[in-house]
Amino acid sequence: MDYEFGSLDFSDDSEEAVARRRGWIGAVQRGFREPRPNEEVVERWTGHYRTDAVNVSGAWLPDGAFGAGPMPVATYASFDKTLNAGRELLPLRMITDITTSASHRRRGLLRRLIEDDLADAVAQGVPLAALTASEATIYGRWGFGPATFNQTVELDTSTGFALRPYDDPGRVELIEPADAWPHVRAVFDTFHARQRGSVEWPSQYQDMLTGAFDFEAGGPDTKLRAAVHLDPRVADDVVDGFVVYSWGEDYTLKVAEMVALTPAAQLDLWSFLAETDRVQKVTFDLAHPDDPLRWALIDVERLKLKASRHFLWLRLLDVPRSLAARPWAADHTVVIDVDDPQGHAAGRFAITTRDGVAEVERTEQLADVALTAETLGTLYLSGVRVKDLHRAGRLSGTADAIGRFGAMADVDGPPYSLTGF
Ligand SMILES: CC(C)(COP(=O)(O)OP(=O)(O)OC[C@H]1O[C@@H](n2cnc3c(N)ncnc32)[C@H](O)[C@@H]1OP(=O)(O)O)[C@@H](O)C(=O)NCCC(=O)NCCS
Repeated sequence: MDYEFGSLDFSDDSEEAVARRRGWIGAVQRGFREPRPNEEVVERWTGHYRTDAVNVSGAWLPDGAFGAGPMPVATYASFDKTLNAGRELLPLRMITDITTSASHRRRGLLRRLIEDDLADAVAQGVPLAALTASEATIYGRWGFGPATFNQTVELDTSTGFALRPYDDPGRVELIEPADAWPHVRAVFDTFHARQRGSVEWPSQYQDMLTGAFDFEAGGPDTKLRAAVHLDPRVADDVVDGFVVYSWGEDYTLKVAEMVALTPAAQLDLWSFLAETDRVQKVTFDLAHPDDPLRWALIDVERLKLKASRHFLWLRLLDVPRSLAARPWAADHTVVIDVDDPQGHAAGRFAITTRDGVAEVERTEQLADVALTAETLGTLYLSGVRVKDLHRAGRLSGTADAIGRFGAMADVDGPPYSLTGF
């Protein structure tokens, strides 16, 4: 089949462009098993994609072919925002809306769209690409490795729940999500500037976290609630944490988003949720791996880890620039040899670290450590240790070289991203 590959201009409001836009959004919804989009979904979606200057592409059946029309048989979108690499915020190509029609799967449509986009990112000087994956078996072949992992936790807040005493002079205030938004945004921006692994929010987060629009329901989310944490030691009206949540079945509070800038503020937000009248359980799908909650509980058994899943997948496109933007733990030199089927990260690189900063350059020297682009993506944020990947056969090198690379590359504290896209 001679598919027609192309992109859509979401700022074009001509009749034909609007029909193709509707068809494209309809195809994405179909691919993700969501209902057909209503007019408001299309409008909100269009607005966000304009704001974020999203590149929208796809494959269509050729004119005249049976089934041809404005609805594509494959969809793909990407846009550029930032990743906190640990020492710097780096431009990040964020990939989303990957679907192929069930009647055109496994004919290379995704391959063509993603490979074109990675080449475009390289041409634009974007050093890294990222996505979140529905299945863990798809993206390794394009050099993506899982780099952050989310944790679904469940807190039993039934009778007897208690935290140990902790030092927090702050207070929590329940306010309307729309009024909370400027504070939510400001807390997130501070968090994003500090937290290794954080990815900038796409524009639709404002709709999601204010309840203005829920893309799954196709209308406003009238059940959403928000609370903010204030630290009067700083100022009476400075917010240093927030939680956005809704009530679920059986007196469960389901946290949609929670960020605090201090451990005490984090504990105060958990405490606020747990002490809410009649609440039996609090759940959160994106808990920070270093959340202070467990060790603040009188009964540690009340916090259950229900699932841990790959979340942010990363792919290095510019190895020297990416590696120079992350932190390093020890002063050494190592030469790595990267195997990359698409070529962007392929070759040998000498990494020399001093005081936590690396100089990285291409080299002809013999390599100490060999690994794939996929493994480099997993190592990048230091969410997985070098020795663990080595034990799994994912890196090769002498024990000395692996030990040296680990001492350099494994830095303290887990990476964390709470941005879905
Ligand atoms: C995932 C999906 C987009 C793949 O699209 P596609 O056009 O069939 O993919 P391609 O034909 O380009 O496949 C390219 C390669 O990926 C592999 N692949 C594709 N989908 C895969 C999957 N779900 N699991 C494992 N491998 C997969 C193919 O086998 C092929 O491998 P090879 O070239 O190394 O032999 C499509 O199956 C789909 O729409 N799924 C439902 C929506 C979804 O999950 N989207 C992904 C969101 S992250």
